[in-house]
Parts: sequence; structure tokens; C-alpha cells
Amino acid sequence: MTSGLRGNGTIRARMVARGLALAIGFAAAALGCGSSSSRSASGTGGSTGAGAGGRMAGSDAGPSAVARNDAGADASGADAPADPFAAPPTCTSGKTWTGADNGSKLMNPGRGCITCHSKSSEAPVLTLAGTVYPTAHEPDLCDGASSTVYSGATVVITGADQQTITLTPNTAGNFLYQGGLALPFRVKLTYMGRERMMAVAQTSGDCNSCHTQDGADGAPGRILLP
Ligand code: HEC
Ligand code: HEC
Repeated sequence: MTSGLRGNGTIRARMVARGLALAIGFAAAALGCGSSSSRSASGTGGSTGAGAGGRMAGSDAGPSAVARNDAGADASGADAPADPFAAPPTCTSGKTWTGADNGSKLMNPGRGCITCHSKSSEAPVLTLAGTVYPTAHEPDLCDGASSTVYSGATVVITGADQQTITLTPNTAGNFLYQGGLALPFRVKLTYMGRERMMAVAQTSGDCNSCHTQDGADGAPGRILLP
């Protein structure tokens, strides 16, 4: 596949759209496309999501002007749609998990499932787990892309041995898998004939540990429904 090329295009588009987002005053900390800067903007722990309004503050005029120029130049003749990763933080479902660490397939959407399970003797060992969201920066514990609303969405994992595993997000948007998997693996999300692919092969199945609200370890944000 041309996933490498596609990834570069996506990253470029993301840079441009981040510029656009800055121009409207969102997430100044993401300027410069450094994943480390966006990661440090709010960290991973404990966000309960009230904060969309609070996070709008702090754009500064200089970088916005630069970003606007960049976006303008690039938009001419570009057929790229608006970058969904420029979306503001929100909990689209309006539903938040309140069951603490009571074991369930629906538990703790958005949090790093395997990070926590690996510290507990009672929690099941999971090979892959994570949460699919309809927008790119949803807070921890917010229910993701529910199978009842977004039916037909799949997470397709292809192991190093070319074996394919197809997972379906549940009503919290969570998906999980407990069987064997040859590393590294590749990831593709599908929904309504559209796709999003992870360009880089991964060895960790703890999807949400990188796909945090703001994105950690270079990830652009949440695992986004195509
Ligand atoms: C902060 C810790 C923590 C996080 C984060 C977490 N879990 Fe759990 N999970 C547990 C613990 C502890 C148990 C076992 C205790 C229990 O079943 O009540 C458990 C149990 C489970 C079970 C077994 C339920 C059953 O019926 O036996 C499933 C399935 C599960 N988790 C899925 C997930 C998924 C999917 C995620 C991520 C979206 C996740 N968990 C995130 C702590 C966590
Ligand atoms: C170690 C960190 C890490 C883990 C774990 C991880 N990802 Fe990613 N993911 C990334 C990074 C970095 C990118 C951006 C570069 C790329 O596309 O490879 C990304 C990109 C993606 C994309 C494409 C985003 C876009 O541009 O639309 C999808 C889809 C995705 N990941 C899904 C998953 C799923 C599902 C899992 C778990 C099975 C997972 N990822 C685990 C780091 C990670």
C-alpha cells in the first residue's frame, strides 16, 4: 500500500489545518506541529472533559498570522478536505463512564486499557484494546463511537504474518482482542466505505496510551472514525 505517502500527506494537511485552527484561537500550544508540545499541553491523566471553553484561551497574534498565510497558500488548488484533527476537544456522545474500575467491556473509554490491566491481577490480559471516537480530541471516560450510532465501523489489524483481525467497537466505542498477534502490526479503520490507516507499524496494542485526547508519542489524537 501507499500508506507511507498517505501518512505524509496527512501530516502535511494536519500542519496546515492546525494553522487554521490557530487562526481561530484554538490550541496555541500545538503550534509548530511538535507532538511534544501538544503532549505537554495537558497530559493524559484525569481530564474529565469540562474544559473545551477553558482551552480556547491563549492564542497569540503573531503565530496566527503566519499560520493563516501558510494555510491560505496551501489551500489554493488543494483538494484536501478540512483536517479533522483540527477539531476542538469535545465529548460527542455526551456520555461519561461512571463505573470507576469495575470490570466491563465498556469501562474507562479513552484511557490506556492495557497500561492499567497489566498492573492488576484481576484484569484480563488484552492483546489489543482501545476506543474509537467520532472526533479527534475527546476526553478520557467519554463514551466513544457507539456501535448503535456508528454501526458498521471496524478496526482491522494486520499482523506481521498477514493474518487479519477485525474488531468492532462496542456501545462505548471500545474494542478489545485477547488472542495471538504477530508483531509488528498495521491498523486500518473502516466506516461507510471510508478508511483511516496508521502509517507506521506498531508493537504495542495499548492504542489509547498513544491515542490520548491530545495525542502522545507522535499520535495525532484519538483513534478517529473515518
Ligand atoms: C484504571 C484501570 C483500568 C483501565 C484504564 C481499564 N480497565 Fe478494564 N479492568 C480493570 C480491572 C481492575 C478489572 C478487573 C476487575 C473487575 O473485573 O472488576 C478490569 C476488567 C476488565 C474486563 C473484564 C470484565 C469482566 O466481565 O470480567 C474487560 C473486558 C475490560 N476490563 C476492558 C477494558 C477496556 C476495553 C479498557 C480500555 C478502554 C479498560 N478495560 C480499561 C481496570 C482497568
Ligand atoms: C506507540 C504509539 C501508538 C500506538 C500504541 C498506536 N498508535 Fe496509532 N498512531 C500512532 C502515531 C504516531 C500515528 C501517526 C503516524 C501514523 O499514521 O503512523 C498513529 C496513527 C494512527 C491512525 C491514523 C490517524 C489518521 O491520520 O487518521 C490510526 C487509525 C491509528 N493510529 C489507530 C491505532 C489503533 C487502532 C491502535 C491500537 C491497535 C493504535 N493506533 C496504536 C501511534 C500509536
